[in-house]
Amino acid sequence: METVSGCSMSVLLFAVTMFVMGVTEVESVRIMVGGGQGWGTNVNYTTWAQDKHFYNGDWLFFVYDRNQLNVLEVNSTDYESCNSDHPLHNWTRGAGRDVVPLNVTRKYHFISGKGFCYGGAKLAVKVENPPPPPVAAPVKAGSTRPNFRGHFVVPVVFAAGALWDSLLFQLW
Ligand SMILES: *[C@@H]1O[C@H](CO)[C@@H](O)[C@H](O)[C@H]1NC(C)=O
Ligand SMILES: *[C@@H]1O[C@H](CO)[C@@H](O)[C@H](O)[C@H]1NC(C)=O
Ligand SMILES: *[C@@H]1O[C@H](CO)[C@@H](O)[C@H](O)[C@H]1NC(C)=O
Ligand SMILES: *[C@@H]1O[C@H](CO)[C@@H](O)[C@H](O)[C@H]1NC(C)=O
Repeated sequence: METVSGCSMSVLLFAVTMFVMGVTEVESVRIMVGGGQGWGTNVNYTTWAQDKHFYNGDWLFFVYDRNQLNVLEVNSTDYESCNSDHPLHNWTRGAGRDVVPLNVTRKYHFISGKGFCYGGAKLAVKVENPPPPPVAAPVKAGSTRPNFRGHFVVPVVFAAGALWDSLLFQLW
């Protein structure tokens, strides 16, 4: 009896988790800064960011050598001059893997202190409002809506777990 209810409970929890993920996170993506190159001095982040969209609700994921770089949010003046003396926010948590929620539609500026900004470790992103979710848009014959998120848009009818994995694979 206990085994049975424990099992149903796990199934239920799994279903609920999948449902919540599908509903709340289907449109948010975690964007790995610099793609496979991570956060460092080998990437021109201006070039890297220019063909990408950053939407309110997305996350930036900074991966780097924790013994060398860090992740500081600064204002535009300090971004231009690589001044890390008065960051607006220190996102460095110590593991070299920092997640930054982009939860306001505005411009964000990030630099690494310790001299690496001068070597190119600086990123500016403009966060926009996300496009309306595809499920909310009634599909009418003869009217096509541009698909702003390109291949990141996946219908919610897909299994949420598989969807989540495929999203991550596309970003990594
Ligand atoms: C950025 O902060 C510095 C130091 O606090 C300040 O001098 C500068 O005017 C600020 N720049 C902007 C654009 O707010
Ligand atoms: C940022 O925070 C980390 C972790 O708390 C700390 O080790 C580091 O000294 C801070 N860096 C700056 C520039 O404030
Ligand atoms: C955005 O996220 C930061 C860090 O988690 C939090 O401090 C801030 O209150 C959030 N802002 C909004 C508008 O949700
Ligand atoms: C990155 O490339 C842009 C042009 O796309 C250039 O203006 C900028 O100076 C470059 N940044 C670095 C750090 O080399």
